Amino acid sequence: MKKPNQKAWLAGGDALCANPPDPPPGPAWRLVLLGAPGVGKGTQAELLCARLGACHLSTGDILRNAECQGPRERSPALQAALASMHKGELVSDEIMLELVGERGRCMRCCGGFVLDGFPRTVAQAEALDAILEREGVSLDAVFDYELPLDEVVERLGGRRVCPSCKAVYHLTRQPPQKPGICDVCGAQLIRREDDKPETILTRMRAYEATTRPLLEFYRQKGLLVTVPANGTPDEIYARAWISGHSAQASRSAPSVKAGRG
Ligand code: AP5
Repeated sequence: MKKPNQKAWLAGGDALCANPPDPPPGPAWRLVLLGAPGVGKGTQAELLCARLGACHLSTGDILRNAECQGPRERSPALQAALASMHKGELVSDEIMLELVGERGRCMRCCGGFVLDGFPRTVAQAEALDAILEREGVSLDAVFDYELPLDEVVERLGGRRVCPSCKAVYHLTRQPPQKPGICDVCGAQLIRREDDKPETILTRMRAYEATTRPLLEFYRQKGLLVTVPANGTPDEIYARAWISGHSAQASRSAPSVKAGRG
């Protein structure tokens, strides 16, 4: 399946994706990924999108993409959002909802989507419901990835990312072929600004206080699928895929059929 370049999501405004997806042979999937920072949501989102032909919609990527702009090109709201991200704090609901709201058309992309990093608060989840209703689509499942804290911290501590093509590595678990160099585009790998030990702690606290309550929100809607996130990325992917299918099959009126492109 061809990979959309995500321009419409990353840049917002009037930007168009250079290679929008074709409608998938089966139904398009619309998923939300939840889980602590570093549990592997981005890694799983890439696997799911490659398999489903869906678009990886990451709010963290919107912010990191904005880092490539010069400070003078950024709005004061975006500047404030980046400052929060660098400290490991959540960006305010007001700013996030503005950023996601103006990208609502990505939700009705014919290939479906995998939302990664949004929603993160109950207010954001309620706003997402309103956006989805406006766009005439609905969620198929919410995957919650679960992993013990020490393993999550180990994953974040060893993470290295490519600033150019955004590929993600781990020093020991998923190392690049040549140390420090991206396998995909050859750029020098870096450590994310918010992957410093003190910032990791702040992010974990924000997750426990603000994002965990979302589990109940989606459990009550019958959408929550808990996925143990231990093992290799392929093992976790297979686990989520099987659980997602059975959860969807067990719902009497699957929601996936609305708004197919
Ligand atoms: P965001 O980019 O969403 O970060 P996050 O949720 O903290 O998640 P991460 O990207 O850190 O981790 P991940 O779970 O994707 O793990 P990964 O696959 O990389 O958000 C960043 C910041 O933006 C937030 O802190 C906040 O400030 C702001 N923000 C974003 N959205 C917001 C919102 N809605 N509201 C408010 N603020 C918002 O994997 C981690 C490492 O583990 C990698 O090195 C990987 O190679 C490795 N790994 C992955 N899977 C495995 C495996 N199975 N085995 C071994 N290693 C593995």
